[in-house]
Amino acid sequence: EIPRRVRLVEVGPRDGLQNEKQPISVADKVRLVDDLTAAGVRYIEVGSFVSPKWVPQMAGSADVFAQIKQNPGVTYAALTPNLKGLEAAIEAGVSEVAVFGAASEAFSQKNINCSIDESLARFAPLMSAARENGIQVRGYVSCVLGCPYEGDIDPARVAHVAHELFAMGCYEVSLGDTIGTGTPGKTRQLFDLVSRTVPRDKLAGHFHDTYGQAMANIYASLQEGICTFDSSVAGLGGCPYAKGASGNVASEDVLYMLNGLGIETGIDLDSLIAAGQRISDVLGRPNGSRVSRARLSA
Ligand code: HMG
Ligand code: MG
Repeated sequence: EIPRRVRLVEVGPRDGLQNEKQPISVADKVRLVDDLTAAGVRYIEVGSFVSPKWVPQMAGSADVFAQIKQNPGVTYAALTPNLKGLEAAIEAGVSEVAVFGAASEAFSQKNINCSIDESLARFAPLMSAARENGIQVRGYVSCVLGCPYEGDIDPARVAHVAHELFAMGCYEVSLGDTIGTGTPGKTRQLFDLVSRTVPRDKLAGHFHDTYGQAMANIYASLQEGICTFDSSVAGLGGCPYAKGASGNVASEDVLYMLNGLGIETGIDLDSLIAAGQRISDVLGRPNGSRVSRARLSA
């Protein structure tokens, strides 16, 4: 039995754009978020409150938040690695944030400059401040199906970090296949294991499509009862601290598959395709969604 309803978390404006070397104007980012809202997307990760030295492209996130048209039924979220990030997010009026840890020590060091345990310790004061301010916190675990520095990752380590995030108050934990090396069988085994300590309906899948496995991994996750997936419009993206990490799975492609399976999302495919093509034009690069390429060339 696969879920009848799926929640799509659109990470294009954040995961999709964070690694772009060319400057992207605040106006173009705002337009992207507004287009996604208009397409019926109910959760949009708009930006990050991280060090501008580490991820320069996300430096204008407060301006983007100030200018987007916020629909009351939509969650507009931001990444926050520490209390400083949360404070900046609160200042910008953000109502939901995400912390991001990893199942790999080496990746944790490269991405957030601390060990896994140190990261969890940094999240603790953030969690209490978020609670006091009525802000929901989502959690990410990176490198769940492979690490660019350590190779294979023991699923038990993923389960441990995911459980720690859940136990400290993250309402949902998204498991990130940061470098896209996962395959469907391993994906199922991973969710089977992690769901022993974090309920399935509190887990999400975040698949990068570097090895072309993301759609298969999402289908495998659906078979495990997972009903929240992160995706990126036009397949934008890649993580700055994971060399060769290509985009997230394209939102249009995921939506097309879910539509075909009769699974509801509330998102309009044609509008989503238009949103993805517009930002692809802005970036001057081919649209990373297969569905969009097929539809727009038909
Ligand atoms: P650090 O250098 O260890 O931090 O970086 P620090 O606390 O020692 O502070 C150093 C400087 O950074 C200070 O400024 C701080 O004020 C500033 P200075 O005195 O040198 O001028 N600083 C900040 N500035 C703005 N916002 C903040 C902030 N915190 C400190 N929140 C830190 C540690 C975590 C800040 C840094 O490593 C960082 O910003 N990393 C961000 C990495 C990132 O954004 N990666 C991409 C997102 S994760 C991802 O893509 C994976 C995911 O998609 C899932 C998947 O695919 O697996 C989620
Ligand atoms: Mg990612």
